[in-house]
Amino acid sequence: METGNKIIILDFGSQYTKLIARRVRELAVFSEILPCDTPLDQLNQADIKGIILSGGPNSVFDNKALTVAPGFWDLKKPILGVCYGMQLMSHRLGGKVEASNEREYGPSNLELSGSHPLFKGFSEKTRVWMSHGDRLEQVPDGFRIVGTSENAPITAMVHEEKPLMGIQFHPEVSHTDNGQLLLKNFVFDICGCEPMWKMENYINQVCEEIRQKVGEEHVLLGLSGGVDSAVAAVLINKAIGHQLTCVFVDHGLMRRDERRDVEESFHGRFGIDLIPVDASDLFLSRLDGVDDPERKRKIIGASFVEVFEEEARKLPVKPRFLGQGTLYPDVIESAHAGGPAQTIKSHHNVGGLPEKMDMDLLEPLRELFKDEVREIGRLMGLPEKMVGRHPFPGPGLAVRIIGAIDRESIRILQEADAIFIESLQSAGLYDTVSQSFAVLLPTKTVGIMGDERTHEQVCVLRSVNTTDFMTADWSRLPYDFLAQVSARIVNEVAGINRVVYDITSKPPGTIEWE
Ligand code: XMP
Repeated sequence: METGNKIIILDFGSQYTKLIARRVRELAVFSEILPCDTPLDQLNQADIKGIILSGGPNSVFDNKALTVAPGFWDLKKPILGVCYGMQLMSHRLGGKVEASNEREYGPSNLELSGSHPLFKGFSEKTRVWMSHGDRLEQVPDGFRIVGTSENAPITAMVHEEKPLMGIQFHPEVSHTDNGQLLLKNFVFDICGCEPMWKMENYINQVCEEIRQKVGEEHVLLGLSGGVDSAVAAVLINKAIGHQLTCVFVDHGLMRRDERRDVEESFHGRFGIDLIPVDASDLFLSRLDGVDDPERKRKIIGASFVEVFEEEARKLPVKPRFLGQGTLYPDVIESAHAGGPAQTIKSHHNVGGLPEKMDMDLLEPLRELFKDEVREIGRLMGLPEKMVGRHPFPGPGLAVRIIGAIDRESIRILQEADAIFIESLQSAGLYDTVSQSFAVLLPTKTVGIMGDERTHEQVCVLRSVNTTDFMTADWSRLPYDFLAQVSARIVNEVAGINRVVYDITSKPPGTIEWE
């Protein structure tokens, strides 16, 4: 892929590494995350205009402290060390790092004590976000201090002649004021990048690549109703039209009207060859009486593959390629598995199909972050309803109906969920939260409706805000809004007489209830 000039982020295992890469791309400059010890010949390529060293959980004094390839500091490219990256720079070049058993985590005030293009446009004092254990006591020869703060006398340092600079705080997190300005200064003024990474260009380039790769062959893609497979489908369709066939397996555990929406969006709007398969009888009969969440997932995963394969076998032309909406964060996670990043492996999508299908993978979104995928979706005319969607787990409502599943509980949950989501949308709240849904508990509680006593099920509303879904906070939805949703659900959904709101963050809770 022709990406124009780019910035490399070397990964020392910070939870924020991907965020740095995203922030750079928001500046319309391509960024790529590579392992911290990537060899020099790879880093020396002409299109790499600068390198950012991420933070990380290590101390430079650890036995197995992560480090860069030999000769790295003599690369003739701008290098910005963030947090651990700065400590490593200092430690390796002869400065003094002081070991500490305590971590400073939270806001701090950066006071500039010198000027440098990195801080162009900064005021003398800036609120920054710190997260570090060790701290710098002395800069290496040739460096000067340009910023200090209460707890870290050396908060920013720069080399007098070489393009080396380090900051103890995290410019990539939103709690750092002017963090994006700092990255902008680095990327454009210091590294000399041009803003060439535009999604409009990407669409044309990736379509050309798909055409070349696929030639006269056929592609099969499993549509889930989620953003990633949706955007992959419209992109591949734009590139090769009827050589693409999409299969949508309805396991009967979708949100209300999901199948209709998918058919309208893809077949109706884009003329995509779409095979909707109603496999709900098969899935629901296999799930009958099953209440263990992991068994539910296994049954759904295996049945999905079975149905998908059966549809593939029926096609008149055997597809050579399997299209998938794999995103860049998944690629980094598997490429770095066992590497420095202390990531918690997220769940695989049910769409992950077995190798025995004997098809090559076609993954047109492998280089993209979610917000970039959404932008492409919008540019290609996918309805906002599809593009801005919250994630929906592969096993669907099966993991939101606690305990055993039957058609009646699915109906009840679909109704309640639809009311919650519609209300969020019409109150303008949907886009302010990351994921929202309803959960149905098997517990019945007593209530009163008119003059009658009721004994019906409890519905839980869950809504979270998160950037990476590995940690999340419960959404502070307005009380009045929650009151309206609760009243509507209890009044309109037969079978529910009580609504509660989940106020657990992740950790210790998970986002889903099962
Ligand atoms: P948890 O519940 O682990 O969820 O905090 C994190 C994110 O993953 C989604 N999730 C799943 N996605 N198959 C999926 O495709 C699954 O089995 C699954 N379980 C959870 C969840 O909706 C959230 O976005």
